[in-house]
Amino acid sequence: MADSNARQQPEACPWEGQQDPFAGATGLLTRVGGTPLVKLRRVGRDRLGTAVELFLKLESFNPSGSVKARAALAIVLDARRRGLLRDGVTLLDASSGNTGIAYALISATLGYPLCLCLPANASIERKRLLRAYGVEVVETDPLEGSDGAILEARRRAAEQPDRYCYLDQYNNPWNWRAHYASTGPELWRQTDGGITHLVASLGTSGTFVGTARFLRAINPEVRCVAVQPDSPFHGIEGLKHMETSLVPGIWDESSAHQQLAVPTEPALQLVGELAREEGLLVGSSTGAALYAALQLGAELSAGQIVVVSPDSGERYLSEEHLWNRS
Ligand SMILES: Cc1ncc(COP(=O)(O)O)c(C=O)c1O
Repeated sequence: MADSNARQQPEACPWEGQQDPFAGATGLLTRVGGTPLVKLRRVGRDRLGTAVELFLKLESFNPSGSVKARAALAIVLDARRRGLLRDGVTLLDASSGNTGIAYALISATLGYPLCLCLPANASIERKRLLRAYGVEVVETDPLEGSDGAILEARRRAAEQPDRYCYLDQYNNPWNWRAHYASTGPELWRQTDGGITHLVASLGTSGTFVGTARFLRAINPEVRCVAVQPDSPFHGIEGLKHMETSLVPGIWDESSAHQQLAVPTEPALQLVGELAREEGLLVGSSTGAALYAALQLGAELSAGQIVVVSPDSGERYLSEEHLWNRS
């Protein structure tokens, strides 16, 4: 297992000012990033050539337990740098859960109140976690999914601009910049520059876009594959079916060499296999990305494929259909 918490600046930083997205973080917040990369020993081996290696980047090791700690921290620190976090202001955003939990930890650490809009059908663990951190939770129509939550956050921000600082993770460039400056360099270092393929799923798309942009800048040979659910009515929490959703402003199709659409059932099946055969308890979006990686790997004779695992299965223990399958 490779592991490092030291950050490496990309050689040519693509944004004006070139700030480190995590500059100014203190205490627990300095522990964001530096997550482990583990090689799979059993799952999928029968479908891959011996020279094809498959790794999971375990983002559940971040404070707040998910990949979204990176984007949330960069976004809040940017708002603070720009002087938007005046006394009395409440942080506001829409989140299907993980970003919300990351914002909750960060806002509690820094001492700001937080209001979050999320679909009422987000898992019970997530809602309880948010309330434990003292967050004001606004539940939106589950039939409208994450788009309903986004529209509610926009409505509140427009109606009360003095009350809220709207963080807008779907359109905020610090979302992908967090990954350009941290996830990408970590993967490069942890594979000693040997990574051949990046596979990551799309929610806001920040993880994929930022990591892919860095890896493509440092080695144009690295193939970057973006993963979406294959239907608007999927069962993979955290992911967006772009064709039928409000498309995030930060989504950049040209950052992907390839896009794969993944069905829910086999993705959930892989989640169970990872727990039983590798001791890795992960969420369903990891199963979706792994399913795509196995499709890809089956066609390769050699390579190092890295799959981003956004969060832990502990966050979904109440979802029985995930765990009651052979
Ligand atoms: C479980 C899970 N997987 C994947 C993603 C996608 O990450 P991103 O928003 O960076 O595209 C999210 C985003 O919230 C998530 O919660």
